[in-house]
Amino acid sequence: MLQSLTADQLTALHARRKCLTSLVDFPVLLWSGGSPSRNFPANRYPFRASSHFLFFAGIPIVNAVIRLEGDRLDLFMDEPGPGAALWHGPEPTRDELADTIGADSAFPLAALADKAEGAATLAVQSPNAGHRQADILGRTVAQPTQANGIDGQLVRALVQARLTQDEASLEEMRRAVDVSIAAHEFGMAATAYAETEAEVRSAMEGVLLGHNMTMAYNSIVTVHGEVLHNEVYHHPLAPADLLLADVGAETQSGWAADITRTWPVSGKFSSTQRDLYDVTLAAHDACIAAVKPGVEYQDIHLLACEKIAAGLVDLGILKGKAEDLVDQDAHTLFFPHGVGHLLGLDVHDMEDLGDLAGYAEGRERSDRFGLGYLRLNRPLQTGMVVTIEPGFYQVPALLHNPALREKYVEAVNWERLADFADVRGIRIEDDVLVTETGAEVLTANLPCEAEAIEALVAGT
Ligand code: GLY
Ligand code: MN
Ligand code: MN
Repeated sequence: MLQSLTADQLTALHARRKCLTSLVDFPVLLWSGGSPSRNFPANRYPFRASSHFLFFAGIPIVNAVIRLEGDRLDLFMDEPGPGAALWHGPEPTRDELADTIGADSAFPLAALADKAEGAATLAVQSPNAGHRQADILGRTVAQPTQANGIDGQLVRALVQARLTQDEASLEEMRRAVDVSIAAHEFGMAATAYAETEAEVRSAMEGVLLGHNMTMAYNSIVTVHGEVLHNEVYHHPLAPADLLLADVGAETQSGWAADITRTWPVSGKFSSTQRDLYDVTLAAHDACIAAVKPGVEYQDIHLLACEKIAAGLVDLGILKGKAEDLVDQDAHTLFFPHGVGHLLGLDVHDMEDLGDLAGYAEGRERSDRFGLGYLRLNRPLQTGMVVTIEPGFYQVPALLHNPALREKYVEAVNWERLADFADVRGIRIEDDVLVTETGAEVLTANLPCEAEAIEALVAGT
């Protein structure tokens, strides 16, 4: 069926195209890509169009190219082959799709060869399509992080065009957020009767799928929250466990939400779980309160580090002054990752461009442990959407590392830490829009205070 666009969405697409073409003085070609096959050609992974294509075309179209120049948009794609109607049903024609996305004209892919001269492009993301792209262009295309010449200029223009969100993209992200919130609420309520992580995962993903959305990334639903990107779901749920769920929806046109909540399987945090939950929440709240235009995101990360360190000092787990502990990276024993990232069409928006989007020109990743994992290091701008996602983890690979134990022998009260053995991982993650005056928490309708979480798990 043909996905349609509203008048407002079309207006937004025109404005985005105009923004991009005003930043460059050459035509731009953007490939949607195809879907890789899993094990034989007819068995394919679900199609996910390139985000750069979606940003300007608005809908996913398989193996299509858009050419942008001045006010013009041309669509290049082949009509479905013979037999397609048998297996895939009637599909929209090239002209219908061109009409839907507001293209000026539409041509077969082969016609692109004559329109590619002097045009900049990005490497098509599906590996099989790379040869076809090179054939059509008569040149190979470097990966975005290696791109130079006009392709490199295009990468920088795309970053500028996509760094802040317009009303149409925010509307889509709010839709993704609403469905993700429903999924988290359902997951919490489902915990009472679930016996494994897999059952909670299926309850949560079922909500996304039931709204005809999909997962913006592989869901993390685990009692081993200390495994930062845990993607196994077989563990049984025990009453004393905390369950960490990092689950976000993606709309049909590709816009993402990214939410994490952590809740007690029993429905009630133990006192030690509650203490560490509240430390994480204090860091989360302080970071959100600090979001406003002009603030350096790295400073927000460092604020999270300091709040976590201070909370751990109060609990007797760390020893010393929070500021000094952060200077020594002692907090990274428990909070080793960055406080968040850009969010948009990609869950880590534009990370296909390496750090070109996440890091301001001239900035590079730190070589400090922890800080080096920070994915965003720019001053915040009105219209950016970022995540705020501090956490507390007991990662055996860090805490049992002899060199780290030696390094932090004075900083950590290891005996006291043993009292908190019922906490493996806690993360609280919200999606935050930078506004002119501060921040709007897009995910605010999903509470994160401990009592409210307990009430949701109890289904009240
Ligand atoms: N869901 C992955 C992340 O939070 O970065
Ligand atoms: Mn995230
Ligand atoms: Mn997440």
